Amino acid sequence: MSVPQPPEPIPGARLLFSLDPAVSHLNHGSFGAVPIGVQRAQQRLRDEMEANPLRFFTQGLVDRIAHTRRHLAGFLGADPQGSALIGNTTTGVAVVLQSMGLRPGDEILSTDHGYGAVSLAIARECRRTGAVSRVLPIPLDADDDQIVQTIRAGLRPGRTRLLVVDQLTSATAKLFPTAAIVAVAHENGVPVLVDAAHAPGMLATTVASIAADFWAGNLHKWGYAPRGTALLTVAPQWRERIEPLVVSWEQESGFPARVEWQATLDYASWLAAPAGLFTLRSLGVDRVREHNAALAAYGQRVVGDALGVSPAQLPDPGGPGVSLRLIPLPAGTGTTIDAARALQTRIGERLAAEVAVMSWNGRGWLRLTGQVYNTADEYERLAARLPALLDQR
Ligand SMILES: Cc1ncc(COP(=O)(O)O)c(C=O)c1O
Repeated sequence: MSVPQPPEPIPGARLLFSLDPAVSHLNHGSFGAVPIGVQRAQQRLRDEMEANPLRFFTQGLVDRIAHTRRHLAGFLGADPQGSALIGNTTTGVAVVLQSMGLRPGDEILSTDHGYGAVSLAIARECRRTGAVSRVLPIPLDADDDQIVQTIRAGLRPGRTRLLVVDQLTSATAKLFPTAAIVAVAHENGVPVLVDAAHAPGMLATTVASIAADFWAGNLHKWGYAPRGTALLTVAPQWRERIEPLVVSWEQESGFPARVEWQATLDYASWLAAPAGLFTLRSLGVDRVREHNAALAAYGQRVVGDALGVSPAQLPDPGGPGVSLRLIPLPAGTGTTIDAARALQTRIGERLAAEVAVMSWNGRGWLRLTGQVYNTADEYERLAARLPALLDQR
């Protein structure tokens, strides 16, 4: 089966990053990669902080953070008044869960595509409050209509107090029709938290168009921001109820300042985040999205071919612009979290290729990403060498 052509590389883009050139970095999804210019911007802010810490923290920092938040929210199409900068999506989920005021018998509904740490957070909130967690199975090949219908049928109005869904799933690289899911949940009086960890920078959908009650997404993956930069957006009717994890000096200022200000921290990552968006815009946001999605699709096909997986067996993410792609591993490979992690490490060490290996529903999957610093030959090299490594089990 012939593989489609890879996209044209974006000239010079590789040189914007300080990544080890001896390694193929095919897992941008887990921790991102920070362009050199953004690292420099962050360092300049740290230099400013270290030159006069008292002045840095006491003269204008809260306003600089608010200004940054407005910039990032504007880029994402989120309401700046209803958004707070936070450290990461995991924190956003925790803030929302503990603000819901759940009681015994209440229910949190989620899907079996949810992120592991989010599922653990839901489990802990249920233990703490006496609420129960219910997880809806959604087949990997379900289309948008099936997803919405499954969720509609799974809602229990009056009992389901929160629905948690991913915009783009981590383990299964699947795009969920979040706006339609939110609409159906709202028809049933159920609020929705969207885990949008991968969306900022990758997906064109605006936060406002999803109309979720709560939306949390990372700028430090596809938005080229320094790590520790994420946004939590909250619909107007919930803002009063949102409590920070840590009470600090801005507590009486209400949302978003009370969530944003978390005492003495290194806020340089947030202030440098607009430099990440500047890099993205300089390269051309649409051009980067198209390039990355096409390259990830190319990688999926070449590596799939090498593993004997036909194109029809390769999961389709379900929408344009998705720069994460899955390839099923041979039966019995990477079927548990431990086995998947061990295989990921082996691929990194033996093949000098950083990839994600996921176990989902008793099956192992290779997850590849496309980024502006990647080239077609990196996937081809992986394809040439992976089958032998998998045979060595
Ligand atoms: C779907 C999803 N949710 C949440 C997270 C957690 O992100 P963070 O570690 O930045 O909180 C991730 C990370 O990859 C993710 O893919």
